[in-house]
Amino acid sequence: MNQIGWNVIETEFVPAELHHKETMFALGNGYLSTRGTFEEGYPGENATTFIHGVYDDVPVVYTELVNCPNWLPLKIAVDGEVFSLDRGEVLEYKRQLDLRWGILSRDVVWRSPKGQTLHLRFDRLTSMAEEHVLIVRCQITPIDFAGEIEVIASIDTNVDNQGVKHWEHLNAGDTDNSAWLQLGCLKSKIELGMATQLTCSENAIATSANVNGNPTLSAKYSAQTGRTVTVEKIVTVFTSRQVSHPAQVAQERLVSLPSYTTLLAAHGAVWDALWRDCDVVIEGDSTAQLAIRYNLFQLLIAAPRHEDRVSIPAKTLTGYAYRGHVFWDTEIFIVPFLTLTQPQIARNLLSYRYYNLDGARRKAHEAGYEGAMYPWESASTGDEVTPRWVTGADGHPVRIWCGDIELHITTDVAYGVWQYWQATGDDEWMQQQGAEIILDTAVFWGSRAEWNSDRQCYEIRDVIGPDENHEHVDNNTFTNRMVQWHMETAIAVLDWLRQHHPAKATALTAQLDLTGDRLQRWSHIAQHLLILHNPETGIIEQYEGFFNLIDVDLSEYEGRTKSMQAILGIEETNQRQILKQPDVLMLLYMLRQSPLKTPWANREDLQLLRANWDYYTPRTDHTYGSSLGPAIHAILACDLDQSDEAYEHFMRAALVDLKDVRGNAHEGIHAASTGGSWQAVVFGFGGVRLTETGPIVDTPHLPPGWTRLNFKLHWQKQCYEFDISSTNGVTEVRVINNSEVPTLYTEKLPETFMDLSIKPTATEMPIKGVIFDLDGVITDTSEHHYRAWQQLADEEGIAFNRQANESMRGLARRDSLLHLLGDRQVTEAQIQEMMMRKNGYYEQFIQTLTADDLLPGVLPLLDELQATGIKIAIGSSSKNAQLVTKLLGISERLDAISDGYSVERHKPAPDVFLHAAMQLGLDPADCLVVEDAAAGVEAGLNAGMWVVGLGPTERFTAAHVICDDLAEVSWHDLTALLADSQIVCLPIAV
Ligand code: BGC
Repeated sequence: MNQIGWNVIETEFVPAELHHKETMFALGNGYLSTRGTFEEGYPGENATTFIHGVYDDVPVVYTELVNCPNWLPLKIAVDGEVFSLDRGEVLEYKRQLDLRWGILSRDVVWRSPKGQTLHLRFDRLTSMAEEHVLIVRCQITPIDFAGEIEVIASIDTNVDNQGVKHWEHLNAGDTDNSAWLQLGCLKSKIELGMATQLTCSENAIATSANVNGNPTLSAKYSAQTGRTVTVEKIVTVFTSRQVSHPAQVAQERLVSLPSYTTLLAAHGAVWDALWRDCDVVIEGDSTAQLAIRYNLFQLLIAAPRHEDRVSIPAKTLTGYAYRGHVFWDTEIFIVPFLTLTQPQIARNLLSYRYYNLDGARRKAHEAGYEGAMYPWESASTGDEVTPRWVTGADGHPVRIWCGDIELHITTDVAYGVWQYWQATGDDEWMQQQGAEIILDTAVFWGSRAEWNSDRQCYEIRDVIGPDENHEHVDNNTFTNRMVQWHMETAIAVLDWLRQHHPAKATALTAQLDLTGDRLQRWSHIAQHLLILHNPETGIIEQYEGFFNLIDVDLSEYEGRTKSMQAILGIEETNQRQILKQPDVLMLLYMLRQSPLKTPWANREDLQLLRANWDYYTPRTDHTYGSSLGPAIHAILACDLDQSDEAYEHFMRAALVDLKDVRGNAHEGIHAASTGGSWQAVVFGFGGVRLTETGPIVDTPHLPPGWTRLNFKLHWQKQCYEFDISSTNGVTEVRVINNSEVPTLYTEKLPETFMDLSIKPTATEMPIKGVIFDLDGVITDTSEHHYRAWQQLADEEGIAFNRQANESMRGLARRDSLLHLLGDRQVTEAQIQEMMMRKNGYYEQFIQTLTADDLLPGVLPLLDELQATGIKIAIGSSSKNAQLVTKLLGISERLDAISDGYSVERHKPAPDVFLHAAMQLGLDPADCLVVEDAAAGVEAGLNAGMWVVGLGPTERFTAAHVICDDLAEVSWHDLTALLADSQIVCLPIAV
């Protein structure tokens, strides 16, 4: 992974952009999302947290995601003045979203109205490893004063959905430094429990209270000039959707949490694993690089990784537009990215449709049809939740017909299922859930298509196609052609079931009444459904009568700042050939391999695309029509080899939220556009085609300036890495790898790590940071440890000697003690006492350390690394690492120290090295570990890093390079040895 293009940075706070930035700086973890409002609040803010699946009833739009209590509030008061960006003076300001590690930070230098200046550093994360854990951390440094500072942390329960209240208070309580609450949704009765605690690195007077129904904790301390104090607010949140007593579970979870640094390392490890699969590297265009990562970040924080009864709403979990409802945006725009990079999440999203089949059946039944008819807008049950009326721009009610007649959603879901199955080969899921979706929706179409005896064909009348500018149309080609596909696919799926899962085929045949007559009708529909097409021109009519509409030259409206529909009105637009989004072109994209199924189908696909592109593109409202369109236009422009045009469309899609190109980003992230942007890069610029034997690069179309494009795709449990480079107009494609896909993360800390890429060659050695173990590598304190353990052992009457000491090499203090104690039964209190005693001896012994105790070769190597610009860290299990490095005189040379306090799990767990890499801001794959213990070597490999082992060969099995020590080892020599190493990082279970 390259290091550039990971940070979205804001250097000035502009109040007019408040709501756009709230969307832009939203954080989430697949369970919930929180808009980027400030910890201290701001007048007019839209503080919002949405949790997947937490809906409540509401008039008109039926149901909406509920704004949950605001967990962010953290107020800092100096001499009675409360920090806020709208008071006092903001001397410095920087907000930064680190996409690589999922951390939102803010540095502010603020002068209070009374003239006291503070530096505040906020870090916020919604844990990816522990989805129910949310953290705000603040480092407070008084710059020009000493005095009392009070920090007040609360959970704001007085929240609503833009005026609509959804919560009732059920219960609350508090202790000295923690508090909790229990609320219930007024209608859906979903319960929510939250608990919070506040810790302060300084001795502080802590109080807790319930202020206006809000659990509130505060800490007051005497601040010193220049002295930084850290406060940590940790919140846990559960709902009755997962556990029966959410408030109780929230409290229990809170007290059992590990330290901030351990939580941080676990969080980072999940992000690391996700990016290994999902990252897209673009070289030569830093805007596109950042934009694509931002879009993928948005998808990854919205994607439910551990639940299969929720899906991703059209505005993800970041805004109020569409009220948290789910559209075709998910299956057509988002699912392909997940199917090909995180298939288990794609399956979760498709299972959501399976569990909602009953709602779809009710919808079909109420409309007088058979089978399952998916709702245009979906929430928790699968029943239709599209509002029937909304208020138009002129204040008049407008009837929304999509819920009644925008039928293509039913096939879009089936299409998503089919694509997932083709790409993953997940037969198990297909026979259990996917097949039923495809078959029962086919039953619906069988009853919906009408036979026209005059024309001797089937028709589907009175629909809305993807282009919503035209309502109540007949024989929309997109819908009809997709239904044709659906009929054929359903027959194929049933055949497959009969062959491979006969019992399931029999059960579904009975359950869905799949009689011979019904199947014959499906086949008849597939052959005789009306598909409009002019063989002379090649142009496909969008629906019957489209060509008779008034034609409009959209260039005459250039410079407009609203949609054509907003300019002309709904009725006028309906009568004109103006598209909100691609319709025929959308069809050609979705069925790229076999666009038409008519007697004229043998026409060359590209000619067909060209003719329809030339006709429909100038008639489409690209700027203010639907945000779903630009990414699709980008892909098709690539197919037509129009890279410049493709790039323009792509940037319109990729920057829609970052740059707020449509002026509506404040309403939430444009979810479909995020997935569409990925498809544009992979299928458009990358030229990927999905074939029966796997993904291939057909013809790449890198935009001008792009020198390299790199991404990975999963296909049938294999991982393919594509590397496309362009030098002086010559494009080279390398399919780098083809290996079994590992399970890269689990609910908790990842157990295994795997570097999927082939070992870099000498010329592309990626190392940007070196992480040294301390004892035995930088200095030899083992003698001091040995003496300290010996003294303890003697006092305890335990036999101990140098040989026994050797077997404790690399072990953390506690593990060493347990090893030393052997079978002896001791209490936890005794363990703690003995560890302290041993450490006391050790601290006495090491006071004599000086620079002379650095091991041979260390100092020159550190100097060489510094001169080369390589970052340096210590990754040690020792709790004395800070002290030891100071005594050795090398603190100044180090960029980071991760020690026994940083993480909870010790080597061979990878945590301490991952923590160090995170502190250095580096990708683990770009780091080298230098270790002298087998457990440390294993930890480095588990972290997916390069590893140099120091010591006898028999001590290590898998280090990339083994040396006796660092004496006379130069960085140049080391990189050469590493480049020659034959070992590729392999997963090792911890
Ligand atoms: C688009 C639909 C889309 C919906 C939600 C509408 O404006 O026309 O295609 O599904 O927004 O994003």
